Amino acid sequence: MKKIIGILLMCMAAVLTISMVPKKPAKEANRKLVLEINNRSYTKKTCRMRKGSKVSLTVKTDPAAGKKKTRYVSSNPECVSVNQKGTIRAKKKGTAKIKVTVTEGKKNVSSWLKIKVVQKEKSPVFDFEKKTVRLNSGYDMPIMGLGTYSLSDEECYRSVTALLNAGGRLIDTAYMYGNEAAVGRAIRDSDVPREEIFVITKIYPGEQFKNPEKAIQDALDRLDIGYIDMMLLHHPGKNDVKAYKAMEQAAADGKIHSIGLSNWYVEELEEFLPQVSVTPALVQNEIHPYYQENDVIPYIQDLGIVVQGWYPFGGRGHTAELLGDSVISEIADAHGVTSAQVILRWNLQRGVVVIPGSGNPDHIKENLDIFGFELTEDEMSRIRALDRNEKHDWY
Ligand SMILES: NC(=O)c1ccc[n+]([C@@H]2O[C@H](COP(=O)([O-])OP(=O)(O)OC[C@H]3O[C@@H](n4cnc5c(N)ncnc54)[C@H](OP(=O)(O)O)[C@@H]3O)[C@@H](O)[C@H]2O)c1
Repeated sequence: MKKIIGILLMCMAAVLTISMVPKKPAKEANRKLVLEINNRSYTKKTCRMRKGSKVSLTVKTDPAAGKKKTRYVSSNPECVSVNQKGTIRAKKKGTAKIKVTVTEGKKNVSSWLKIKVVQKEKSPVFDFEKKTVRLNSGYDMPIMGLGTYSLSDEECYRSVTALLNAGGRLIDTAYMYGNEAAVGRAIRDSDVPREEIFVITKIYPGEQFKNPEKAIQDALDRLDIGYIDMMLLHHPGKNDVKAYKAMEQAAADGKIHSIGLSNWYVEELEEFLPQVSVTPALVQNEIHPYYQENDVIPYIQDLGIVVQGWYPFGGRGHTAELLGDSVISEIADAHGVTSAQVILRWNLQRGVVVIPGSGNPDHIKENLDIFGFELTEDEMSRIRALDRNEKHDWY
């Protein structure tokens, strides 16, 4: 009996001790606020808005933190207003900070985002008569041409010559393709006046971005056609802002007519554009029926920037599947054209410039012949339904 009483006393003492230990405070709410617009985080970052547009700001906090009250304050309500539901309106060109404060019990958690209001630019419009588009730099660029990726020296020379003979005037090359010299040689050897021809080349991250002035001069020397119509940064990378600024200077010096970017999507552009002075004239990205960039294209065009698509036929290794797609083949049959022509025309009708690659003079000719038919709205939407968000290259 004594033993049982002893055990009971020990248990009671243990319960007492536990109950006397001061309670730990409830788990602290997550102290970070995540501010999102269209599912993209802008916490302490700049969001660009077009004048006259409105967006909804979503505030994410720890769901376990209990009852909350959220307040929104704009530092410049004449430029950017915000109501207490988080609806932001871009009213006037300029910048404002939106401070967001969430009150949880007696605690306040705050964060902010910056809004830059920009004027809505006129989206570029294709002139189907002249087969050109006016760039924001003031120059006209042909809307269809030739891509030269993977064309080695002689093949490249022959392809550019075939393009120029067939009436094509737009050529896309790059330092990385190793064929700028062949492009330049074909242009110099042709009877087509230099000012009718439009050459795009690109400089590459790494050594070229580190010393962009040299990279630009090297491209001018290799091409040897007087000036470069358009130079692009090949893809984002270390020193890309520095490289772009060197292109801005070369454009101011008349060495390059227009400048732009390649493989920059919405997030990359939002981060990059506030750091540079000259809005790119062109963005060149992967675009084909299996990777359509339906959100990215209007975003870029609304900035007054022309969009150009690479891998229009999906790129080597994928062309058979894409050109053999039953929907595209049916549409091609209905118009008495080829699948390749349907894909190129679909691009043009959504405001995307095309640069199909080819080493075959017959294909080069065929790819320029895309102005004798028009896809119906129904055909455009049938192709739109083929999107698989299937990227065929890594950048
Ligand atoms: N900025 C970038 O990061 C980037 C990346 C990739 C490409 N690019 C640019 O975009 C251009 C286009 O891409 P790409 O050349 O790689 O791929 P693509 O244009 O999608 O496909 C080229 C392939 O399509 C075939 N082809 C062309 N016309 C045809 C036709 N009418 N009928 C049947 N087949 C046809 C070509 O074969 P044939 O030679 O037999 O005609 C070649 O094998 C490149 O040349 C390059 O200038 C840029």
